[in-house]
Amino acid sequence: MYDLHCHILYGVDDGADTVSEALEMAEIARDGGTKGIVVTPHSYATPTELNFWDADMKNRFLNLQKEVDERHLGIKLFPGQEIFGRGEFVEHLLSGELITINGSRYPLIEFPFTVRSKYVLEKMQQLIAEGFTPVIAHPERYTFVSESFDSLTELKKIGCLVQVNMGSFKGVFGHTAKIISEKILGMRMADVVASDAHSPFMRTPFLADAHEHISEKYSTDYAERLLSRNPKAIIQNKKI
Ligand SMILES: [Fe+2]
Repeated sequence: MYDLHCHILYGVDDGADTVSEALEMAEIARDGGTKGIVVTPHSYATPTELNFWDADMKNRFLNLQKEVDERHLGIKLFPGQEIFGRGEFVEHLLSGELITINGSRYPLIEFPFTVRSKYVLEKMQQLIAEGFTPVIAHPERYTFVSESFDSLTELKKIGCLVQVNMGSFKGVFGHTAKIISEKILGMRMADVVASDAHSPFMRTPFLADAHEHISEKYSTDYAERLLSRNPKAIIQNKKI
């Protein structure tokens, strides 16, 4: 499996604090059957401070891969970011200060939970016009999606992809996110399921549970598509 959304890069956001915590997360991922992880630090380190993919970020990324390899965990890391959809994020993507998943056409974009659907649609159209294929992070957590599926349907129609959080259908983010995530899965509107893991303790990167849940409730083929085939294709910049 390939985890497309994981805060494993240490010391850059509210994910892993240290190398050893990041390595614990990598071990958990390995135990759950993950072969590849896209590191996705938040594009804001604080509410006002932007987290660009700079030399420090690259060094941490290379160092973490080295530490993972030294322990023979069999996990390949890929660069990426979870880009917060506000302010000048489109411009920062175009300038290369913020990056897509492994340099592909696919940026991972999250929004404030109470974002208006009109804003999301407008920005996604802008990104698509620039040649990107946006992957919308955890739409099940946004108010506009829980109120109506019309906008999500429209976003899919214009070419956006949908990434559901494993924690949502496990109930980590409350009742509404659980119901909505199952509805998205059930309507086959999901393209990817990822961990959005932040630590080795809570919200971990153990994807095996998600695979089991989707296999049992829907089908093994759907689980393979969401957790393996689609995320792999995105990492490789292939069409899905
Ligand atoms: Fe995240």
